[in-house]
Amino acid sequence: MEAIKKQELDPNKIPKHVSIIMDGNGRWAKSKNLPTVAGHRAGAEVARQITKKAAELGIEYLTLYTFSSENWLRDQQWIDDLMGLLRWYLKNQINDLMKNGVRLRVIGNRSRLAPDIVDLIEEIEEKTSNNTSITTVLALSYGAREEITHAAQSIAIKVLSGEIDVSQINTELVSNHLYTANIPDPDLLIRSSGEQRISNFLLWQSAYSEFVFSNILWPDFTVEVFENAIYEFQQRKRRYGLYSDS
Ligand code: IPE
Ligand code: IPE
Ligand code: MG
Repeated sequence: MEAIKKQELDPNKIPKHVSIIMDGNGRWAKSKNLPTVAGHRAGAEVARQITKKAAELGIEYLTLYTFSSENWLRDQQWIDDLMGLLRWYLKNQINDLMKNGVRLRVIGNRSRLAPDIVDLIEEIEEKTSNNTSITTVLALSYGAREEITHAAQSIAIKVLSGEIDVSQINTELVSNHLYTANIPDPDLLIRSSGEQRISNFLLWQSAYSEFVFSNILWPDFTVEVFENAIYEFQQRKRRYGLYSDS
């Protein structure tokens, strides 16, 4: 998809859950001869605007892929810069989140994050827990394979302790042991920057998500591009394997 003209959205077909792989910050900074962190800073501002627009449109859940489990393998300076930005965001965005009625949740492996960041996350999750305009889910230190492995471990512990029987393990039970327990599956998954892959994001949850790819680098992503992605979603016919044609 690419933004050409502004499309009228059908208010009756707004996706309940949109997830975004916010990619291209590094390339954006490089193309402008800026330090990489400037790309992430610009990207964070775009995430803020998209969250606001998503709430206005009546989207209930917005999941933003912020830092993957594999991103820990990048160089330390890059990681430190990104964590610095995250710290700033968690400390300074609370008023904005409260003003816009945003409930913030974080999914991922917290044990790899610095303790002060974990404290900030817990504080912001608590402070925003009664906000109802939208739930923004930050996938942070997140990897879907790790998430599914973690769910398998939690279920195995319950079987061993006799809390559940093996015959009770079904898809619903597995879903309920993922980081995303109680969050509906994403209807729409958007990836910016021209890459067309999932990069270990929401593997289980995206089984029937609609995918929309944009060539635009994340810092250049706008609310209009976002609305066009939703328009494209509204033109799709979701079949869930139930029909042989049409
Ligand atoms: C995406 O930007 C955001 C994160 C991975 C944190 P990148 O850093 O992957 O940017 P590109 O893909 O190198 O342009
Ligand atoms: C996916 O982007 C992770 C985030 C956007 C946070 P990457 O840039 O890490 O993914 P690859 O390396 O292009 O697959
Ligand atoms: Mg990338």
